[in-house]
Amino acid sequence: MRAQVCIIGGGPSGLLLSQLLHLKGVDTIVLERQSREYVLGRIRAGVLEHGFADLMREAQCGERMDREGEIHHGFFIAHDGKLDRVDLARHSGGNSVVVYGQTEVTRDLYAARDRMGGKVVHNAEDVTPHQVDSDAPYVTYRAGDDVVRIDCDFVIGADGFHGVSRKSIPKGVLREYERVYPFGWLGVLSRTKPVSPELIYCKHDRGFALCSLRSQVLSRYYLQVPLTDRVEDWPDHAFWAELKRRLPDAVAAMLVTGPSIEKSIAPLRSFVAEPMRYGRLFLAGDAAHIVPPTGARGLNSAASDIYYLYHALIDHYERGDDSGLDAYSGKALARVWKAQRFSWQLTMMLHRFPDHSDYENRLQATELEYLFSSDKALGSLAENYVGLPF
Ligand code: FAD
Ligand code: DHB
Repeated sequence: MRAQVCIIGGGPSGLLLSQLLHLKGVDTIVLERQSREYVLGRIRAGVLEHGFADLMREAQCGERMDREGEIHHGFFIAHDGKLDRVDLARHSGGNSVVVYGQTEVTRDLYAARDRMGGKVVHNAEDVTPHQVDSDAPYVTYRAGDDVVRIDCDFVIGADGFHGVSRKSIPKGVLREYERVYPFGWLGVLSRTKPVSPELIYCKHDRGFALCSLRSQVLSRYYLQVPLTDRVEDWPDHAFWAELKRRLPDAVAAMLVTGPSIEKSIAPLRSFVAEPMRYGRLFLAGDAAHIVPPTGARGLNSAASDIYYLYHALIDHYERGDDSGLDAYSGKALARVWKAQRFSWQLTMMLHRFPDHSDYENRLQATELEYLFSSDKALGSLAENYVGLPF
């Protein structure tokens, strides 16, 4: 089998690139290890920057997002029993974010790929890139007892943090930077009215909490928990009781509780792999970098990789111009590191660090006092949260 571009990973990065390239007449195949039901069962991101939303529209996948997604012009930070609002529109020159779940983004991308006859192979086992440092790369995968070979011009590694693509780059070429945090986020999705129409990021002595939403009838809440905790340790009543303890009283009084539809724990990690290109293999999204979810940057950083890669591949196919491909890793990483910085900063500002001294705790509190006393500090927060330009 042959495709111009073979994409490993059928998450949002891989599907979005496949869809954008298809619209420009470039032939792609997407190889996904899991079933479609499994991919669509994962509950992850909820906040999209306007650059990501624009890319979805360009991919002809923005219709439902524009109809059902919510535009948010601000969010709250709760601390010391108070609620302070970050006015994104005011502090970022009129920008906003779209609240629309990653699950729905992925569903819309799959629907578009199906509509256009896109090739997406599910349950592809043992996907392996070969000879990516040559002019004739290929990828193999196993379907039952058959091994299928796909010859291609380029291989895109969009297979997330645990994928095979990054691992196929020789150790001597790749440099990895990592920070693991001593806690995770326990997330609950529930069919209840959200406690607030805008997100609330909550700093509390018992640990961080986040009140988010998917719609005005679907809530998403998170609690900072120790890494040793398991989902079974957190029956619904315990989750709601702990969330109430961490919210300001007036907010806790408004909380509507109900059965959880999904409950999972995600560890927090910062990670970057450099470079993002090896020969004809290009990494994109979580395959190359991870952020702690605090700043809502993960999916959005994936989208900027896809933006650069899409334009670089189109320049290659339409004009024989490889300058975009040559610049890809440097350009993508420059933006990735800014997202790393922002996510790290917000994580450090809002979580409880068990090993912090009193001095560090006072400094952390001062960060928030400074933030809400300075329009310039709020401007910096808002500019990063709505997304730096691609
Ligand atoms: P993935 O979504 O991981 O997709 C990779 C795909 O590759 C998967 O479908 C996987 O099954 C497949 N795969 C893996 N290995 C192989 C293989 N060997 N062969 C074939 N296929 C393979 N980001 C935001 O921007 N905003 C938010 O609000 C936000 N909130 C988050 C909340 C939580 C709790 C979590 C966990 C993450 C959050 N993120 C957020 C991050 C965001 O979800 C990720 O950055 C995003 O999923 C990255 O997309 P991706 O396509 O690069 O990778
Ligand atoms: C959500 C996740 C985040 O990490 C975040 O910063 C905001 C919202 C969410 O899942 O809704």
